[in-house]
Amino acid sequence: MLARRENNLLSLLPDVAYREMITSLGMSRRGIVLVNDPALVAQVMDTDAALFPKNDLFVGALEGLVGDAMFVSSGERWRSQRRTLEPTFGHMHLGRAFAGMAAAVADARPQLDAAASSGARFSLDATMTHLTADIITRAIFSTPLQQSTARQVFDAFDVFERGVENVSVRQLLLGAPWAPVPQTQKVRTACQTIRKLVGDLLDARLSGAAPPREDIAGAAIAARDPQTGRGFDREELINEIGVFFLAGHETTASALTWTMFILSQQPLTTKRIRDEVSAIAGDAPLQLEQVRKLPFVRNVLKEALRLYPPITFLPRVAAEATTLGDRRIAKGTMLLIAPWSIHRHERLWRNPDRFDPDRFNPEREHEIVKGAYIPFGTGPRVCIGAAFATLEATLVVAELVRSYDWQACAPEKVWPLARLTTRPTHEIQCQIRAVGRT
Ligand code: HEM
Repeated sequence: MLARRENNLLSLLPDVAYREMITSLGMSRRGIVLVNDPALVAQVMDTDAALFPKNDLFVGALEGLVGDAMFVSSGERWRSQRRTLEPTFGHMHLGRAFAGMAAAVADARPQLDAAASSGARFSLDATMTHLTADIITRAIFSTPLQQSTARQVFDAFDVFERGVENVSVRQLLLGAPWAPVPQTQKVRTACQTIRKLVGDLLDARLSGAAPPREDIAGAAIAARDPQTGRGFDREELINEIGVFFLAGHETTASALTWTMFILSQQPLTTKRIRDEVSAIAGDAPLQLEQVRKLPFVRNVLKEALRLYPPITFLPRVAAEATTLGDRRIAKGTMLLIAPWSIHRHERLWRNPDRFDPDRFNPEREHEIVKGAYIPFGTGPRVCIGAAFATLEATLVVAELVRSYDWQACAPEKVWPLARLTTRPTHEIQCQIRAVGRT
């Protein structure tokens, strides 16, 4: 039985993880090598993708839900999926998604206003997860989360995530390379539920019963591989949409939870955000072009993503015995590329643990070591939703900070945990006050 502490991979990282450029973690049945050196990271992620595919454990944990979707596939299959879906996240689609983002923020306000008036405590994590799930549901299907099918998808995802993460840490430490990843009946049922619900929503589109829409589902249905002309069949669409839902809300929820937590301790930064927002929009709701012109909010987000990268680890596996730098790597070794340790590495960052959003100012950007900032990954498999997430998070932070003062309860007890994304060990309880009220 694993001790509770050992279920948190972050607490297993030794001090050398933040000092060495490459180090063996040697804590499991399979070899695990942590790679921090940006040049070696680039070799693994950019050049030798066939030699270093996504880790088998990670793929095994997700495949019941998303089959061989772009997030987990490799080789020519991945290249075709990526080519086909790239335009779905292009500039034009982002402009359309913005309306749904703004509507979701507006719909969150009554509940936040009520919490502000009553002074009631509420969970920061749950609030941010609900908001980002609402935003991604509107972006994919043009429907708000409260609509009952969307709500059922969300609830089933919650069951899936909780079940999968326990298995994955256990399996990582105790399992042999390429061993099957066991899933509980609960997780298998959640996968079937999600696939059925997403399938029903898709069928309404495919059969013409629901009107065509210019949302992510509509774009994915219409998408064709520019080289082969091939589109996705129904099962493939369910796979890809499952990933968009999962990767598209858990990550941004993690980013927003940590950003708001940090801001609750940073009154001067909070004031600078309010001044920037007010200078560009006064008291009016923010418009798309204004959100794109909030450099300080962007820097705050960048710095929060540095200190708390939502995807803590990007695991790869050595498909063959090889070398990395001067280190021999046995076949089946897990290569852990960890934005977490790279972003807090003492040889890559000055004052690595300090929150300093101005380090991303253009005049200081030369201080950032190339390849040392990778919250969205790096190389050809870099996050396809990065622009979407940045727009969304900038809007949410700007709107929520201009309207409310955020206070985290017992901040000294907040501690990070590597789950599917980087989350606090326990939900952060917070209280808010309407800005201007004492
Ligand atoms: C703050 C929010 C986000 C963060 C920090 C983030 C981070 C990442 C990272 C690190 C990767 C690379 C994983 C690897 O190489 O192993 C990735 C890939 C991916 N992300 Fe995101 N992501 C975010 C938001 C989104 C959103 C909003 C979507 C879609 C709606 C999305 C969809 C994807 C997909 C489909 C991939 C796989 C790309 C491929 O393998 O070609 N992500 N993301």
